[in-house]
Amino acid sequence: MKILLLGKNGQVGWELQRSLAPLGEVLALDRHSTDFCGDLSQPERLAQTVRDWRPNVIVNAAAHTAVDKAESEPDLARCLNATAPAALAQAAADIGAWLVHYSTDYVFNGQGEQAWQEGDATGPLSVYGQTKLEGEQHIAASGCQHLIFRTSWVYAARGGNFAKTMLRLAAERERLTVIDDQHGAPTGADLIADVTAHAIRQALQQAALSGVYHLVASGETSWHGYASHAIAQARILRPELALKVSEIAPVPTASFPTPAQRPLNSRLHTGKLQQAFGLVLPPWQAGVNRLLTEIL
Ligand SMILES: NC(=O)c1ccc[n+]([C@@H]2O[C@H](COP(=O)([O-])OP(=O)(O)OC[C@H]3O[C@@H](n4cnc5c(N)ncnc54)[C@H](OP(=O)(O)O)[C@@H]3O)[C@@H](O)[C@H]2O)c1
Repeated sequence: MKILLLGKNGQVGWELQRSLAPLGEVLALDRHSTDFCGDLSQPERLAQTVRDWRPNVIVNAAAHTAVDKAESEPDLARCLNATAPAALAQAAADIGAWLVHYSTDYVFNGQGEQAWQEGDATGPLSVYGQTKLEGEQHIAASGCQHLIFRTSWVYAARGGNFAKTMLRLAAERERLTVIDDQHGAPTGADLIADVTAHAIRQALQQAALSGVYHLVASGETSWHGYASHAIAQARILRPELALKVSEIAPVPTASFPTPAQRPLNSRLHTGKLQQAFGLVLPPWQAGVNRLLTEIL
């Protein structure tokens, strides 16, 4: 099997390099690759890569993920998040390849307290959410066989992440303020990559699995709950760190104004994914504890 991986150095892309390796020959590209074009800002050349290399599966982990920046550069965000996936999907349809793509809870308007199901009405609040939704719609319209995984609050040990920032601040300050009115599930890039590999194996045997799935760790928390858990766990794992923080104050989203509006309800219902692929999604704390063990 031949797998074309785009965005190989992102949080999810890096983990996919590992999880896809046992499935077959992987051509992993980033925007700077020279032998083949892996640049989402050049959708036509991207489609040419697909036509030239003729993969069985395309996995697109690249995207315009700078949520606030997208508000001031909507054309670039649309090119990367909607036009490029459309070109990939058309090329996939032309050669009979599967397209695996990632989307986001930001396609929803964040109202209510129920976990969103795949078929719920969308209503993005930001340019990022809108362009990611357009990407989903182009893929569905192309007629290619596809797996679209909507995920949320992604972290990885490599590079910066929320837990690392909170631990740094906890070492420097006695009081932290953390948002407590956004709800979701922190989800490891490693979990997303492992589920992707399992799903690809099954989908190739069963075309009816083509569709949109919610993929997040189980359970839910707020950013405040996430920070509190990370700091408490760090104190257990490394008592000698002597973190200075004594108060973690919950505050509303309005305390931290940002160019892009974030949804308050980012809960995603994962029953469809777990049933279709016979998988169990671990609690979010398990992945965060692993992350902390790795980075501390
Ligand atoms: N992070 C989250 O919390 C989150 C939540 C929900 C959904 N998602 C979705 O999950 C997927 C993976 O996200 P992630 O967290 O792994 O994001 P990430 O770490 O920001 O990785 C995105 C990758 O896209 C690459 N990229 C940017 N512009 C490109 C271009 N013109 N051509 C080719 N590659 C380009 C980046 O490359 P450079 O490093 O060179 O910039 C980066 O490697 C995305 O579809 C994202 O929308 C993420």
